[in-house]
Amino acid sequence: MVSSNVLFAFFFALVSLLFVADLVAARPTTSRRNLAKRAAISQSLLEDFVRYTNYSSGAYLSACPSPLGNTLVLQFSDVATNTQGHIARDDSRQEIVVAYRGSLQLQDFLTDADFAQTQFSTPGLSSGQVNGVFVHQGFLVALNSVASLVTSAVAQQLDEHPNYTLIATGHSLGSALASLGAVSLAANFPGHPMKLYTFGQPRTGNPAYAALAESLIGVENIFRAVHTTDIVPLVPPQILGYQHHATQYWNFADPSVTTNVKECSGGEDPTCSDSVVLGTIPAHLEYFGQALGVGSVSSVCGE
Ligand SMILES: *[C@@H]1O[C@H](CO)[C@@H](O)[C@H](O)[C@H]1NC(C)=O
Ligand SMILES: *[C@@H]1O[C@H](CO)[C@@H](O)[C@H](O)[C@H]1NC(C)=O
Repeated sequence: MVSSNVLFAFFFALVSLLFVADLVAARPTTSRRNLAKRAAISQSLLEDFVRYTNYSSGAYLSACPSPLGNTLVLQFSDVATNTQGHIARDDSRQEIVVAYRGSLQLQDFLTDADFAQTQFSTPGLSSGQVNGVFVHQGFLVALNSVASLVTSAVAQQLDEHPNYTLIATGHSLGSALASLGAVSLAANFPGHPMKLYTFGQPRTGNPAYAALAESLIGVENIFRAVHTTDIVPLVPPQILGYQHHATQYWNFADPSVTTNVKECSGGEDPTCSDSVVLGTIPAHLEYFGQALGVGSVSSVCGE
């Protein structure tokens, strides 16, 4: 079973790569030039993306004693749902960073047809606020298994460091958890400055979830990075009732320099990663020049 999934994933990746390589080769140069003209993010935003990619990468390691050289506040884990991550405190930037771990079994997720949605509910949100809000069932169960633990650890940190900014981040399935986790933190610490940085985030909920995340976190505080032809942000498909929240930053070509990253508009921008005909797996495993998942390196954990 597992080996057939792995074979499927590799075959799929190979076919996708060849197909996309053809498309890129066939694309007229004028449209590439127009795309480049609309692109470019600031150097400081690029540095933020690298920083939180490193936190997200470190979350994959079984131990991360000093995330980016900073203080480890809590390493959390729920055995039943296999949900892990850590909370770090950066005293020079005055930030409390919650990083959620993604899945090392990406192929299981991609070949899993169970994209059922369930009514959203998490501690801190009233039933009125979540009316009509539906999210991916597996992601929600995983988030809620650690939500109270994370909230109380963050509350303790904010008691001592009331002016620190809250950051939620993660890669792959960890980024869906970061999205849900940011909504949970925004609900529990209303008005507190916070930002969400996700890398290769799958669609996480329905249009009402996208609207809730945008209003609670604030569109200007959401940075949803997508690397070139990454397949994961293309699933689950919109036809199953899913919709991305804002704002996508599409790193449409390598290398990951400012002029190769475009700020998109809205949740689903047809000129950004939605324009990818066939997604690929290798593009999912590297963000801003860093390997994530099995390729994560321990240097991001201060070792
Ligand atoms: C991110 O990690 C890479 C690889 O360990 C390292 O070279 C780079 O300096 C790190 N950047 C930041 C901002 O942590
Ligand atoms: C937090 O910010 C407020 C307003 O800027 C300031 O008055 C207060 O001293 C700061 N608290 C700490 C612990 O730095």
